[in-house]
Amino acid sequence: MTVRDRRAVVWSVVVAAGSGERFGGDKQAADLAGQPVVVRSVRAAASVSDGVVVVVAANRRSAVVDLLAGLDGVEAVVDGGSTRSASVRCGLAAVPADAEVVLVHDGARPLATPDLFRRVVGAVCLGAEAVVPGIPVTDSLRSAEGRVIERDGVITVQTPQGFAAEVLRRAHADGGEASDDATLAEAAGATVVVVEGEPANLKVTRPIDLALAALEVVSSAERSTDA
Ligand code: CTP
Ligand code: MG
Repeated sequence: MTVRDRRAVVWSVVVAAGSGERFGGDKQAADLAGQPVVVRSVRAAASVSDGVVVVVAANRRSAVVDLLAGLDGVEAVVDGGSTRSASVRCGLAAVPADAEVVLVHDGARPLATPDLFRRVVGAVCLGAEAVVPGIPVTDSLRSAEGRVIERDGVITVQTPQGFAAEVLRRAHADGGEASDDATLAEAAGATVVVVEGEPANLKVTRPIDLALAALEVVSSAERSTDA
């Protein structure tokens, strides 16, 4: 039976083991309109997953376990590595062998919606090896040397990214390093499919991102009451 014939077994790895240097502190635990950043990210991942593995910095482990207490779907909390790719591998090691689709999501992207997660899973279930959400670039672009880069046709890439499980395992088999998993999957021979991302799905990187995310939570709540 193929993945298309029935609901696939979906697992998510939420990576939250970074040091938050640019943020200037523990951004995963930071409050975002009443819920910690990482809790929002994990809840959205859990909405489409049979299980979620959360990857945390060893020295913040007990604090994160406390934050996640009582959340449905969290099957493991594991220690991360010194790079994002290493942390993904730590999480992937805890994903069971029967997982067919594996998603990787940044703990620092608390505003990715269950709809976006479903879109990514859906594309993998339709046969894509690797799926990334993308949104159009809004700034004008130049290379570091000063050459103009045509903005049309360029997108910025978000998480959650989705993979056929064996594609993600192969992508990480050699211990490669990249800023995202689709880059490693492509280097390992996979074809990457882009689905529509979400402009509000920002990555909390600097303090201003948390302030923007808080505004977005409030305005999206207002939009849904108006509707
Ligand atoms: N991440 C991780 N393990 C690492 C590095 C990053 O799990 N060794 C995770 C972060 O926790 C975050 C995501 O990867 O959810 C994207 O990374 P980034 O936004 O760069 O977060 P930090 O690495 O924490 O921030 P900074 O680079 O400013 O220190
Ligand atoms: Mg980082």
